[in-house]
Amino acid sequence: MKYITYVSQAERPYAQDELARLLSHSRARNDADDITGCLVYRYNEDFERGNFLQVLEGPDAAIDDVWRRISSDSRHHTIVVIDEGPVAERMFSDWSMGFRNVDAGDLASAAGYADLGSDAFWDRASGGTLPTALTLLKSFHDGD
Ligand SMILES: Cc1cc2nc3c(=O)[nH]c(=O)nc-3n(C[C@H](O)[C@H](O)[C@H](O)COP(=O)(O)O)c2cc1C
Repeated sequence: MKYITYVSQAERPYAQDELARLLSHSRARNDADDITGCLVYRYNEDFERGNFLQVLEGPDAAIDDVWRRISSDSRHHTIVVIDEGPVAERMFSDWSMGFRNVDAGDLASAAGYADLGSDAFWDRASGGTLPTALTLLKSFHDGD
C-alpha cells in the first residue's frame, strides 16, 4: 500500500452542495477501489479562493489510478504533492473519504496552518517543507 498527500487550488469557490456531490461520488468509488483518506476544503476570504488538502491511501495500483483522475480533474489546479510513500497500516481505515470544510478559526489552533492558502504556504508547500500536513489531517480523524 502507499499514500499520497497533496494541496491544490479550487478552480472556483465551491458551495456546500457541490462539495457534497464530489464527496459522495468519491466515497462510492473509493469504497469500490479499497481507497481511504481525508479531504479538507477551505475557502480563503483574504485571497478569495478555495484550497483542497487531501490524503489518499490504498493499494499501489488503485492509488496510481485515482491519482491519474484527480490530477487531471479541472475542478482544481496548482496541485502540489506534499508527501507520498509506502504505508504498512492505514491512517484513515474507517473513512472512504473523511471531509472537513474548515475556516480560518478551525485552523488557527493548528500550528503552522493558519496561513493555508497564503503565498507563504505555497512557498513552503512547493519547497516540500510541510511535515505536519499528515498530523493536521490525522487530528481531524482522531478528533472525529
Ligand atoms: C479535490 C478533489 C478530490 C477528489 N477525490 C476523489 C477521490 O478521493 N476518489 C475518487 O474516485 N475521485 C475523486 N475525485 C474525482 C476524480 O477527479 C474524478 O472526477 C472521478 O474519480 C471520476 O469518477 P468516474 O470515472 O466514476 O466518473 C476528486 C476530485 C477533486 C477535484
